[in-house]
Parts: sequence; structure tokens; C-alpha cells
Amino acid sequence: MSETTTVAVLVGSLRADSLNRRLAEVLRDQAPEGVVLDIVDGLADLPFYNEDLDAGDAPAAAVALRERVAAADRVLAVTPEYNGTMPAVLNNAIDWLSRPYGAGAIVGKPFGVVGATPTPYGGKWAHADTVRSAGIAGATVVEDVLVSQSALEVDVLTDTEVLGRLTGAVQTLAAYQPATSAA
Ligand SMILES: Cc1cc2nc3c(=O)[nH]c(=O)nc-3n(C[C@H](O)[C@H](O)[C@H](O)COP(=O)(O)O)c2cc1C
Repeated sequence: MSETTTVAVLVGSLRADSLNRRLAEVLRDQAPEGVVLDIVDGLADLPFYNEDLDAGDAPAAAVALRERVAAADRVLAVTPEYNGTMPAVLNNAIDWLSRPYGAGAIVGKPFGVVGATPTPYGGKWAHADTVRSAGIAGATVVEDVLVSQSALEVDVLTDTEVLGRLTGAVQTLAAYQPATSAA
């Protein structure tokens, strides 16, 4: 019997020619056997999180996001860095996924983050903030799945070593098993 692990992918850039979106697409196309990367579109349609909007029927874009993530086994953010932190669109998506409190779609989902920026640091502050936010939102942060890749001197979309590290991170996330507590 074959089993598929679905990874919901949240891309932190909205621009049409986003390096990080293209990276997410490459990772999807090179996903390990048995792993499906589902790139969740529609983050631009989410209103800014507002508890008033979430009091009754949530906006359609939020419902769609929650359903896609709830249906996934894992969540991976693929994101650049804006002004030393994660782009607002990604933070907003995590906010929507964090509610209802304690029962949000992200709660308990193994979570990782990767991304590339054209600086020597590769977006490491954004990635650190992303895992902190996702962890507080209730995700299970998989600490080994964090790759901040500089795109300064390498074509991250084709470089074998870089893609090996990134697909390795996807594999680690997909294979992650929560530690079982001792009896
Ligand atoms: C508003 C803004 C702020 C940025 N701040 C940072 C930053 O703090 N650190 C960084 O590494 N790159 C920063 N950048 C550069 C982005 O990393 C770069 O534009 C990247 O290609 C964007 O990702 P994308 O190609 O996936 O859209 C910033 C870009 C913008 C538009």
C-alpha cells in the first residue's frame, strides 16, 4: 500500500516573477517519491486578520486557506525576507491559520521554512521569525527544516547542491515523526 504525504506550501512573495515561488515550484516538481507539495494560492485574497471578520462566517479566502492546510500533513513556508522579517502576507496567513484559538488548521502540523534572498544571509531573520510565529500559532516546528539560502552567487533554481539541500529539507519534513512520550 502506498501512502502520500501532502505538504501545504505557503509562499511569502506575491510578485509574478518571485524567486521563492519558482523555488517552490521546482521543489514541487522534484518532490521525493510519495510526497506531494500543494502550493496554496490565494494568500493575496486574504483580508488582514481581524477578529471581527472571524466572528461568524470567515471570509471565503480564509476558509479556503484553512481547508487546504487542514487537509495537508505538513506545512512548508517558502519565503523571502522583507525588512528583516517575514513578508506581511505570510504573517497574515499564519494569523488566519492560528484561529480558532487552539483549533486552527496549523495546530499540530509539522512545519518548516526555506527560502532564498539575494543577500549573504538568505533571509535568515525572516525564517527565524516565521518559525517563531508558526510555533506560537500551534504548529510543530521541525527544527532541521530551516534553510536560508543566499542567491547572490548561485542560481538556486538549478544548482545541484542547493537543490539537494532544499529537497532534503522537504524529505525531512515529510518523514518527520513526533517523538512519543515515554510511558
Ligand atoms: C520591501 C522589501 C524589503 C526587503 N528586505 C529585505 C531584507 O530585509 N533582507 C533580504 O535578504 N532581502 C530583502 N529584500 C530583497 C528580497 O529578498 C528580494 O527582492 C527577493 O528577491 C524577494 O523575493 P521574491 O523574488 O521571492 O519575490 C527586500 C525586498 C523588498 C521588496
